[in-house]
Amino acid sequence: MSEIRSVGVDLIYDSRGHATIEAEVRLGSGAHGRAGAPSGASTGMHEVQAFPRGGVPEALTTVRKQLVPKLVGLEAGDRAGIDGMIHTVDGTPNLARVGGNSATAISVASAMALAAERGQPLWKVLARPGVDGRSFPAIVGNCLNGGKHAIGGPDIQEYIAFATDRDPARSIEAALRVHTLLGEALHRRFPTAALGRGDEGGWVAAVGNVDALEMLSEACARARDELRTEVHPGLDFAASEFYDGGHYHYKDRTLDPPGQVAFVAELVDKYGVRYLEDPIEQESFGGFAAVTKAVGDRTLVIGDDVYVTNAERLQRGIAQHSTNAVLIKVNQVGTLTETLRTVDLARQDGQATITSHRSGEVPEGWLAHVALGTGARGLKCGVLGGERVAKLNELLRLARLHGP
Ligand code: PGA
Ligand code: ZN
Repeated sequence: MSEIRSVGVDLIYDSRGHATIEAEVRLGSGAHGRAGAPSGASTGMHEVQAFPRGGVPEALTTVRKQLVPKLVGLEAGDRAGIDGMIHTVDGTPNLARVGGNSATAISVASAMALAAERGQPLWKVLARPGVDGRSFPAIVGNCLNGGKHAIGGPDIQEYIAFATDRDPARSIEAALRVHTLLGEALHRRFPTAALGRGDEGGWVAAVGNVDALEMLSEACARARDELRTEVHPGLDFAASEFYDGGHYHYKDRTLDPPGQVAFVAELVDKYGVRYLEDPIEQESFGGFAAVTKAVGDRTLVIGDDVYVTNAERLQRGIAQHSTNAVLIKVNQVGTLTETLRTVDLARQDGQATITSHRSGEVPEGWLAHVALGTGARGLKCGVLGGERVAKLNELLRLARLHGP
């Protein structure tokens, strides 16, 4: 096994045109890996800090001067040593000096370099016990954007096609079909209005929260009939974004916490929702538990902002039976080491994991390997836009190599 010979970090742009970081790690053997880190817009309160106060330029200076000299010479196979060094040099609890995005880029690029040296695909060096790379994730495809990802759309952040065929060729086709059908329905509903797309490639339209779900559910039903496959409606409320400390404020209603639980449960049952992310604000483990108790036998109830891929927060959720599934975003917590710790904890507890993109993405495919290697129930990466399609295409390639 060879050691790290060099680590380069540089500025690149994400799909929103915001600066982010990519890292290139080169080993003594000549093998190398390169990865960019994405950025969120509706970030959880307990996420690590993506960049230091001085942004990407300060991150680059700190990493180059202080971190790179400490990484050179470490064994490529020693993930805990590499990721631990990132934290040691950073010295803060939330990666405020180095930045979570530097940590993610370096951690993933190191794993890629190791994979290249071993002549293996990335997913294999990340593989959890019992994962053989033959069980593929469902597609969690964002079809209509709201909240912080769209101007003028609904308050609920994401209207999702949850396509559960285990063959990615079929699940991707189904999610894309729902996107197309929903676009046609929106155009019929608003024939003179321009139709745009939001940050994650879903449609943006001035449509109400429940109306949008009704249209999504009709599009899913039609795609199911046409393609004879399983595709069902999903929602990411990103509920913290419209919770003010006492109430959930929608354009068309204001709900107290028990009212929110009842509203969510009603939508699940009326529209056959099978994927339900962040229906409750990020501090209420008990509110999540109430939702899971009400509808957890018929839908995934997924914690994103509430857990921020952090094992300690997931532990609290497990103790309170808050969810039955966990969203996994590497740069919410920093490195692959911490990400895999959270994945392992979720798996031990029998919770499904969903590997997720961010709203500001890089046009790379490595996320598909994280999903496959961690045995994820779903890959949440949108369906349209080059930065989303890059991940779907990588999953297709993996399926052609090992798939059903
Ligand atoms: P973000 O949101 O990437 O903008 O944080 C995505 C999500 O809430 O799932
Ligand atoms: Zn979310």
